[in-house]
Amino acid sequence: MLKKIKSQFFCQNCGHQSPKWLGKCPSCGGWNQFAEEEISPSTAAPASDLQFHEEPLPLCEIKGDERERISTGIAEMDRVLGGGLVRGSAVLVGGDPGIGKSTLLLQVFRRLAEKGLKVLYVTGEESARQVKLRAGRIGAASANILILVEIGLEAIIQQIKEINPQVVVIDSIQTVYSSVLSSAPGSVGQVRESSGKLIILAKKLDIPFFLVGHVTKDGSMAGPKVLEHMVDTVLYFEADTGHAYRIIRSIKNRYGPTNEIGVFEMRDDGLAEVSNLSAFFLAERPEGAAGSVVAPCIEGTRPILIEIQSLVNPTYLGMPRRTAMGIDHNRVSLLIAVMDKVCGLALGNHDVFLNVAGGIRADEPAIDLGIVSSLASSFHGRPIAANTVVFGEVGLTGEVRGISRMGDRIKEAARMGFTRCIIPRTNYADDTPQAKMEIVKVVNIRELLTHLF
Ligand code: TYD
Ligand code: MG
Repeated sequence: MLKKIKSQFFCQNCGHQSPKWLGKCPSCGGWNQFAEEEISPSTAAPASDLQFHEEPLPLCEIKGDERERISTGIAEMDRVLGGGLVRGSAVLVGGDPGIGKSTLLLQVFRRLAEKGLKVLYVTGEESARQVKLRAGRIGAASANILILVEIGLEAIIQQIKEINPQVVVIDSIQTVYSSVLSSAPGSVGQVRESSGKLIILAKKLDIPFFLVGHVTKDGSMAGPKVLEHMVDTVLYFEADTGHAYRIIRSIKNRYGPTNEIGVFEMRDDGLAEVSNLSAFFLAERPEGAAGSVVAPCIEGTRPILIEIQSLVNPTYLGMPRRTAMGIDHNRVSLLIAVMDKVCGLALGNHDVFLNVAGGIRADEPAIDLGIVSSLASSFHGRPIAANTVVFGEVGLTGEVRGISRMGDRIKEAARMGFTRCIIPRTNYADDTPQAKMEIVKVVNIRELLTHLF
């Protein structure tokens, strides 16, 4: 008797499963995302050779500590990973096409191979010759780097077991194809099946795996959100391909802080680290220009000085425009309303454009005071002194609220040569005074405006 083939419909965006086709996904709200995929009974449980068969152990007897992390040899990369690669972990690296995922991982491999580690690069997107060409550009030519061109999941697992490498890259997970499913590579079922098995293999062999994942037009990981839940660490490449720099951010990290960023610059010979971030983001700051202000924000564990720029212009249309790049525009609208009410700054008939220079996103409330200062500066056409840094959160009544990690922010400002900080009055807890740093404490934004110019 013929075996009945069972199929289900899967949302290609979030992996939601349904017995019939749906126009709108009830889980992620996406339209026209459902595709039919066959489900075979063999996918219900992992193959027996991928099971652990272990006894429960007392926690204190389990081996492993921090020192066992493998350093990638690239400081910015180690930082986003939370201090290096953890054995047995699966790291998902996502980003737009052409942003530099393959380049970065090959550079990591170059460093690992130089340290004598045997590493395996599995590619389903490029031929071995193409990988070789790229490796030539970044100067990787070690015998310890093995390139495997393969898309069959079973063959990949077989090769990994035979070669026994110390780190594996799968570039990309969307090209891997398991023969137990009949759906096309890149579909939710395939991605889930292959990443599931590879993650188990990583844990079993106790080696780190990098999985490269593609990103769809709307910026989410192509195929399944489920993949983000399965892996230990999710790293995302940000920034437009138009810019030379690339920001890699940890969205999820089971072994380190999230939202940590590493910054690289794309050069002819691969990605170069940018370690002095504040200098990088402030490099093109116009001195003495109205509307430009420097504010420190915390990215992951590091304080970074960013430049907020604004342009306030009388509007020639009925409806004033509000545009914010790199800052939440609702926050900007709120601050404009507060400035209007508390300081009588009539921004209602002005267009407002705000931008964080350098293309970084700053979503921290601590930059509120920076936004207010920048808007006021542009509105009055008066520049803020170039030696001044402004930080603090602004409440709805115009009060300036305390923020976290004040000491670190002041230290970073001092390091970058700033000599005056405007901070919330309530914040004295950890603002260790710095030599040559003038600290101005303000209670509300009305008081701020008296100290700005
Ligand atoms: P790539 O790593 O192939 O991107 P992804 O794997 O994320 O799709 O990056 C390719 C881009 O990087 C391509 O536009 C060329 C550029 N590039 C350089 O500018 N310099 C280099 O040394 C290399 C290797 C790539
Ligand atoms: Mg690639």
